[in-house]
Amino acid sequence: MKYSFKKILDELLKYKKEFVVANIIAVIAVLVSTPAPLLMPLLVDEVLLKKPGFLTEHIDKLFGHQEAYVYILIVLFMTIFLRSLFFGLTVWHDYIFSKISKNITYKIRKDMLSHLSKLSLNEYEALGSGKISSLFLVDVATVETFLGMSISKLIVSILTVIGVAVVLLLINWKLALFILLVNPFVVIVSKKFARKVSLYKKEENRTFEAFSEALSETLDLFWQIRASNQEKNFIKRLFVKSDDIKKAGIAFAYKSDAALRFSFLLFLSGFELFRAASIFTVAYGNLSIGLMLAIFGYLWVMMGPIQEILNIQYSYHNAKRALNRINQIFQMQKEPHYPHLKNPFKESKTNSITLKNVSFSYDDENPVLKDINMHIKKGQNVAIVGASGSGKTTLAQIMVGFYPLQRGELFYDEANIKEIGLDIVRENVFLVLQNPMLFNDTIRFNLTLGKDVDEKAIWKALKIAQLEEVVKSLDKKLDTRVGKNGVRLSGGQRQRISIARMILQNPNVIILDESTSALDIHTEESLFRALKEILKEKTVIIIAHRLSTIKQADYIYMLEDGRVIEEGTKEELIKIEGKFAKHIGGEK
Ligand SMILES: Nc1ncnc2c1ncn2[C@@H]1O[C@H](COP(=O)(O)OP(=O)(O)OP(=O)(O)O)[C@@H](O)[C@H]1O
Ligand SMILES: [Mg+2]
Repeated sequence: MKYSFKKILDELLKYKKEFVVANIIAVIAVLVSTPAPLLMPLLVDEVLLKKPGFLTEHIDKLFGHQEAYVYILIVLFMTIFLRSLFFGLTVWHDYIFSKISKNITYKIRKDMLSHLSKLSLNEYEALGSGKISSLFLVDVATVETFLGMSISKLIVSILTVIGVAVVLLLINWKLALFILLVNPFVVIVSKKFARKVSLYKKEENRTFEAFSEALSETLDLFWQIRASNQEKNFIKRLFVKSDDIKKAGIAFAYKSDAALRFSFLLFLSGFELFRAASIFTVAYGNLSIGLMLAIFGYLWVMMGPIQEILNIQYSYHNAKRALNRINQIFQMQKEPHYPHLKNPFKESKTNSITLKNVSFSYDDENPVLKDINMHIKKGQNVAIVGASGSGKTTLAQIMVGFYPLQRGELFYDEANIKEIGLDIVRENVFLVLQNPMLFNDTIRFNLTLGKDVDEKAIWKALKIAQLEEVVKSLDKKLDTRVGKNGVRLSGGQRQRISIARMILQNPNVIILDESTSALDIHTEESLFRALKEILKEKTVIIIAHRLSTIKQADYIYMLEDGRVIEEGTKEELIKIEGKFAKHIGGEK
């Protein structure tokens, strides 16, 4: 998918009815406003110079011959009435159009979000949250400015110019042709400028992106930065980036303003030339002074719309570049969508896992998993051990479908993951992450992720996760906020929150990726004792460095450099001199 003006136009056409109504209002508004400037100047000829004409004759027909002030008052009233009507109609039409344009940008944001939610994790890793938020805020706003401006004003402006053109042609066609030829010339010249200036807008948006990227990273890693006593450097980096925004902002602001004013200057020069020609025609030709003043009045009517058209032209080019930036999101790859053909999780409480010749690489170059074969039986309790960097976490992530399989097959019972669907797999296979991140919200939210869960069940899960006492001792209990990324909890407490979340979800298969590494041995032991009932009925994979963690494992896989180098029961492995101890820290 890609956002183009064509697609935006298609969106616009979804509001056909509103669009038509708003344009009819616009036409009426133009018709209403067009005669207004003509009325007063006509009085110059008809009342002051005593040459009765269209206005006085019609008023006479209705009310009989009148004093001069009556004509003036009637015409004044009519003019103000027409102008007020114009005001009312434009407010109405602006309302309809802003609704349409906001709905379209809402749709763009929604599409961006839904694409982001389906991105493959590979893409996520390269993605900065700062960059993305700047696309959402700054670039979508650039498009929004254009839409708001163009769909509401373009048609009125063009209609007004056409309306004025028609009247001018009627008054004096030679003069009218002259001024009308100036317009296309100005538009063509502006187009060139607009395209150039939009480069500065793009640069401005890019500097916003860089700043917001650096800012969000600095805020996310603030603890790290403070720990290494680097605040000054990082703040300096942000200063530099905001300085870039300033510079790019100034460049864009004054250059776009200058270009726009220059386009307008061109128009004004044509306009002055035209005025000179009008006076010339009065002096040597057959144009009356009243009509000349009327023509001048019309030129003023034309002025606003011309300026709008020039503005829209500039804004169009900015929006075009912003759309290109927004499309970076749509160009990112989605994770594969597998159909829901089989659901092995529904039929039984737990499942077997089979990996056949699974190989994987993050970058298509350096293999991280090499030809892995495993068969983990239903209800089995398996441990995976291996040195840091040997591929344990990668393997766990493959099992829950975080990354699509590149080579080999993965089965739950007899069903291939490609027939189950990634969402179903993740619902039923729970990976307790190595470094669980928490939401800056309450403990309750972090346990339920916003789902409605029975209070009793929450406390039960906390009890099993060895957190009951901890949470009870907190002032607000479950409603205590945990801070950004959960900083107000200790590392071990965060791990246990994650385990409690797993208990609440009650998955068929559980994978614990060093999920108890931050716990002391005693707490870990109590935790596993409490978890025993739950783990007993399920297929469980425990990834660990400590022998104590994998004590109850029925079977152990030893990973080295992406390969399974040994497998067997603990007793079998211990016999293999050295190797096992190398991967398992500390105590026997
Ligand atoms: N998202 C990623 N993108 C690219 N390479 C990665 C990514 N995650 C891990 N790797 C690489 O893959 C290899 C295996 O990493 P993995 O996290 O699976 O190891 P591990 O066995 O879990 O290590 P540890 O015991 O330290 O947690 C490492 O060499 C690492 O550099
Ligand atoms: Mg790991």
